[in-house]
Parts: sequence; C-alpha cells; structure tokens
Amino acid sequence: MELTRCLLIFPFLLVAAFAQCPASNQLKSESGEKVCARMFEHSSYYYDQSCTGKYLDAMNGDDFPFIPLGWNNRISSLVVSNRCELLVWSISPKRGSKRRFTGVVYHLKEVQKGLFGNWNDSISSYYCTCK
Ligand SMILES: *[C@@H]1O[C@H](CO)[C@@H](O)[C@H](O)[C@H]1NC(C)=O
Repeated sequence: MELTRCLLIFPFLLVAAFAQCPASNQLKSESGEKVCARMFEHSSYYYDQSCTGKYLDAMNGDDFPFIPLGWNNRISSLVVSNRCELLVWSISPKRGSKRRFTGVVYHLKEVQKGLFGNWNDSISSYYCTCK
C-alpha cells in the first residue's frame, strides 16, 4: 500500500517540479474544453521552468479589452492552441503595441515590442480565436 502510494505520488511531483510549456495540441481546461491560449505568470531562462506560476485561460472568442483583474502586465510566457491565434495589446483597451501570437512562447521577454521594449509583463488586452 505504502509503495503504491509512493509510486503514484512521486511522478506527479517530478512533473510539477520540472514543468515545461504544454504543447499546442495539449491545452484543455479542467472541464475538458479546448483552450484557445494559456497565459502564464512566469517564465525562466531555463526552458523547463517556463510556463509556471498562475495561468489565465483564453477560450475561443474571448475578447478582453481589459484583461481580467490581477493580470495586467503580469504574463511572461504563453501557449496558443493549434489553429488558434492570440492578438494582444500593450495598453488597455486595445491600444499601444499590438502583436499576434501562435504556438509556444517560452520567453515573452525575447519578443520585441516596439523599438526598445519586450513583451514580458506587457499584455493588457487580448482577443483569442480558433478556426
Ligand atoms: C518579467 O518582468 C518581471 C517584472 O519586471 C520580472 O520580475 C521578471 O523577472 C521578468 N521575466 C523575465 C523572464 O525576465
């Protein structure tokens, strides 16, 4: 019994400790619905530590000129589902710099915003759609 419990719990801990960004074909909500994009609080120089912290799910058609409370300028990595795209703006409501994302973005810091900026902790509005 004890051994079984260890075997069941231990792999879960490993997954949690070495989280990686989910693949673009793996995004599902807790209720099993397809997620358009998942936006994460943290990223890291180490790829296996990106896509960590709290996350915010955008469903197909979600249009938020004002990102939900607590998330303004907080997002550091994100994953967009296959056949979906995420449009983001740096200033609410849908002003400032604009950018379209697809696929897995481990480091928003490496995505240039304007001449000198980057997209780390810069998303303030978003619109997500899937085909
Ligand atoms: C993103 O910005 C936040 C706030 O400035 C900072 O704490 C964090 O380290 C940055 N992330 C990266 C990957 O540089």
